[in-house]
Amino acid sequence: MTARGDKPFVVAIDGPSGVGKSTAARRLAARLGVPYLDTGAMYRAVALAVLDAGADPADEAAVVRIAAAADLSLAGGEDGSFSVLLDGRPVEPRIRAPRVGEAASRVSTYPRVRQRLVALQRASARAFGAVMEGRDIGTVVFPDTPHKIFLTASPGVRARRRHEQLLQMGKEISLAEVRRELDERDDRDTGRAASPLKLDGSYVEIDTSQRQVDEVVARMEEVVRQGS
Ligand code: DC
Repeated sequence: MTARGDKPFVVAIDGPSGVGKSTAARRLAARLGVPYLDTGAMYRAVALAVLDAGADPADEAAVVRIAAAADLSLAGGEDGSFSVLLDGRPVEPRIRAPRVGEAASRVSTYPRVRQRLVALQRASARAFGAVMEGRDIGTVVFPDTPHKIFLTASPGVRARRRHEQLLQMGKEISLAEVRRELDERDDRDTGRAASPLKLDGSYVEIDTSQRQVDEVVARMEEVVRQGS
């Protein structure tokens, strides 16, 4: 897959938490031979910087100041994925802590934070192309790309998947609590004024509720190749 003219080759994959975006997007990127970029990791990195600084994620002015000053960068790895660096150091696995996810969901509502991260996302995709995963890739970051996929799954399935992941990470939490957090996150991601998660007619929607990840990846590859 190559860029045509000065248009970068970008596959936009959007959808709510817990639909299996990351695993599927990473595998699709490998199949297509383009870099994978998890944009949620960038919002989580800003959240980590905010928490490390002892600031309150609800304090917009403080968050915007920290995000503007943060030394954030992307490093291309041998496996074809970008990893996010804060002050030159990888942010994984610290950004996967539930409190960082919660803070990320708040800091991502601030337009000035989004502007900075969107600029980084566009620059990296223009240089290398990307399978890019997030909430606003097909609506805001690269609205002109012909390759847009929206992954969905029923809330019950998403909560169960997320619950299993957390148990594997050693976190003790009930399914009901996971479902409550997921519903809250959905409300914030879809209800915010700045770049809300929104499915429109320019996407191909794939419901992952009843599909194994291999099937989802195969369907996404078909969608991309048909559209290219
Ligand atoms: O996909 P994730 O759970 O790692 O994302 C963390 C938070 O960042 C989530 O609440 C939504 C937000 N986000 C966003 O607003 N825009 C993106 N492109 C990616 C993530």
